Amino acid sequence: MPDALQLLRTRRSIKPIELAGPGPTAAEVETLLTVASRVPDHGKLVPWRFIIFEGEARLAAGDAIVSAFRARYPQAKDEQVEAERRRLARAPLVIAVVSRAGPHVKIPEWEQVLSAGAAAMNLVLAAHALGYGASWITEWYAYDRGVLDALGLAANERIAGFVHIGRPQQPPEDRPRPPLGEIASRFSDR
Ligand SMILES: Cc1cc2nc3c(=O)[nH]c(=O)nc-3n(C[C@H](O)[C@H](O)[C@H](O)COP(=O)(O)O)c2cc1C
Repeated sequence: MPDALQLLRTRRSIKPIELAGPGPTAAEVETLLTVASRVPDHGKLVPWRFIIFEGEARLAAGDAIVSAFRARYPQAKDEQVEAERRRLARAPLVIAVVSRAGPHVKIPEWEQVLSAGAAAMNLVLAAHALGYGASWITEWYAYDRGVLDALGLAANERIAGFVHIGRPQQPPEDRPRPPLGEIASRFSDR
């Protein structure tokens, strides 16, 4: 297992298409979900849940994406339609992080949404810690009501992300990171 700080300093997203199998074992999926659900959660509301896509189920979900895509683009070419069917089948494992945030007497909805983001980030980091690559993406179908219905999301639920997990084929190149001088300041420097 890599040193925690080294992992945090070097993590990079890997494109779904570059994430090959074999995917995580059942025991590793349990580890991923255990880590993902160990996040700050004001009010202990558990304002998130997970949907696991593996094997043929990834293509079954793709059928729903295709239906929505065809409705939007009736003239779409066959190869475009087939690419849409494989949206959730690029990586061997996709875990959808679903936000269940809603109005609450005490806990702001915003904080519930942030907790779902923390769950997604923990999931990404756990995948990297296990030696896999990961990518946290949404793409258009995360916002399509027909797709959400087909995936079983209730009206109050939203996709925080589809976290794609698999084995990177090559080490990723890094990208520039924001200079700390631009994003952090001391309150005393006002
Ligand atoms: C909520 C959320 C949704 C995202 N959706 C997409 C997406 O649909 N497509 C995409 O290319 N990147 C998306 N990203 C960005 C990637 O996760 C990633 O941060 C980006 O590719 C930069 O790579 P890095 O993580 O190595 O810095 C999303 C990030 C977040 C936080």
